[in-house]
Amino acid sequence: MRVLSIISALAAVVTAVAGAALPGNCGSEIGCDLAQLTAKRDFLAHDARDLTNSERLRRGLPLKSPILRRGTPVSRADPSGRPAPDPNTISHHGIIQVINAASGAVLGYISDSSMKRAQLRYQPGTDSALKVAFKTDKTGSGTNLNLVMKNSDTGFGLLGLVQGNTDTDAVLSSGSSQFAVLAGVAKPGTTPGSTPSKINSSYSSVYETMMTAETAIWTFDAVHGTLSPRWVNPDGSLPTVQPFTQSDDAIYVSGDVDAFGAAHKSTPTVITLKFVST
Ligand SMILES: *[C@@H]1O[C@H](CO)[C@@H](O)[C@H](O)[C@H]1NC(C)=O
Repeated sequence: MRVLSIISALAAVVTAVAGAALPGNCGSEIGCDLAQLTAKRDFLAHDARDLTNSERLRRGLPLKSPILRRGTPVSRADPSGRPAPDPNTISHHGIIQVINAASGAVLGYISDSSMKRAQLRYQPGTDSALKVAFKTDKTGSGTNLNLVMKNSDTGFGLLGLVQGNTDTDAVLSSGSSQFAVLAGVAKPGTTPGSTPSKINSSYSSVYETMMTAETAIWTFDAVHGTLSPRWVNPDGSLPTVQPFTQSDDAIYVSGDVDAFGAAHKSTPTVITLKFVST
């Protein structure tokens, strides 16, 4: 009898608070079992939590205490000593798929194991794929990005382009067989829009000749997942360039892939680079 009266009292309270439709077919207190009443109470408690303060005032409920929402910038220092994450940037971590641009076939992934420790190349599978990281704004896409390499055997920190060792002037253009190679470039790299710079790289280090390089050259399109390199010529102009590979599986960029093929007696394959989040 005492249990029943407690249940009845509880049901009366929750019904009074809500005045709303209840889950289940437990319309009146009498005949409701304890499980139904508990479900009712939980539902109402949840309902009451979600009320706005003006609704709570109207129903005579106490006001909600302010909640510090996740992602709200806080001024106090992080006790771990790390800077608080910037709510306006997105960090991307993943690997890079190499696709035959003409056929759409996946050729493989950029490898953490380079060609002669000088140039980045691709390999068939995802095992020992090169891991990269970059940051964009809240849209998820971005231009002039630096790509940080996490596990490259080149010993250099950024994935950049380096002037080919047969190039005389670092100019890429339509009609020119000149090229740049994908290589490891020393941090902090070059700034967005900067012209070819004498900054150390895996390619220059191995061939013991300082060739110019650029790093803030990546455009990421979050819709299609593509990572596109660009090259800024010494006069600041932006030639149309295409990434390609050839029989050595290394990755290159040129303003004229056919002219490169003719000059180097190779059969270049134009590629698309696609970022795959991991
Ligand atoms: C380039 O880097 C290599 C490897 O760290 C180093 O041995 C070489 O001295 C560097 N060259 C220059 C010009 O800084």
